[in-house]
Amino acid sequence: MKERITPSNIYIASGSAHPELAQNVADYLNIEVGDIETKRFPSGERYVRYNENIRGKHVFAIQSHITTPEIDINSAIWEHGMLVDAARRSSASEITAISPHMGYMRQERQARGREAIGTTMIMNFLDGADRFVAVDLHSPQVTGITTKPFEPLTAQIALEQAMLPDLDQYDKQECVVVAPDAGASKLAQSHQRRMDLDILHLAKKRGRGDSSKITRDELVPEAADRVCVVFDDMIDTAGTLVTATEALKKSGAKAIYVAATHGIFSNDAVDKLKSAPIDRLYVTDTFPQQRAKEALGDRLQVVSVAPIIGQAILEIATNGSVSDLFDDDNHL
Ligand code: R5P
Repeated sequence: MKERITPSNIYIASGSAHPELAQNVADYLNIEVGDIETKRFPSGERYVRYNENIRGKHVFAIQSHITTPEIDINSAIWEHGMLVDAARRSSASEITAISPHMGYMRQERQARGREAIGTTMIMNFLDGADRFVAVDLHSPQVTGITTKPFEPLTAQIALEQAMLPDLDQYDKQECVVVAPDAGASKLAQSHQRRMDLDILHLAKKRGRGDSSKITRDELVPEAADRVCVVFDDMIDTAGTLVTATEALKKSGAKAIYVAATHGIFSNDAVDKLKSAPIDRLYVTDTFPQQRAKEALGDRLQVVSVAPIIGQAILEIATNGSVSDLFDDDNHL
């Protein structure tokens, strides 16, 4: 294990969306979170100011693009841009914009004519940064929108490792990695390779205009008597997951474990998950998870991305390798 020495020019700037996560990253690095004032004016406009000299610092501006009772996702993104802008105007030597959850990644192309492409807009908006970092990007191709370095991190390996003790009680031959829809296939393949298990793709090929997702009434004979290990990058309304796990259960699955990096849990997702046939659910803290934890108790295990982000910051600040942290499995 390498000794952890945090360079003195690292400066952790936190937006107001998820300060606990920034604090945990700073704790990992044994440094303080920077003294920054953020506020919302009565008109709804935002304000950001560094309350201390940051000239010559390498500013790591951390903001998860999320909606919480305190801030909505669009304001969180705006505030992220202001953290970057204020750092640039304060002569920071380098600025790295870190988005534990990066918003608008599902709007990476025009699915229909005359649509906006939110992904490109975000990258343009944060362009004052020198470098970008994000955890489990829904659209890996976003890294190509900018000509600047973009370090994609992954929490999927940490989620997989958190799940292993639960899988210990089963024979390896019983377990199967499940991709809940077409978009999750590549991710499932990387787990299958590392875990050395069988794989099952739930996506059905249908005609144009039809969904690439399974329906809850479809039977999946390959799931009978198997321990299904489902991986996805995010759970938003939980529609994808509940449908997939109900189909697996109906097909005779012996047990179902689910892991996803971003537990967005919009609308009544937590209630839906409460009654879903899931033995244990693993998510990370790219979103605050207190509410879900209260509702789901021990059925929910939260894996922190703070060590992953903290280690990436160290590699970046010391000209180390971020890809090596993940044996290159951070590029899907
Ligand atoms: C789909 O491409 C994503 O990987 C997720 O499966 C999906 O976006 C999750 O959304 P929801 O939970 O609302 O089904």
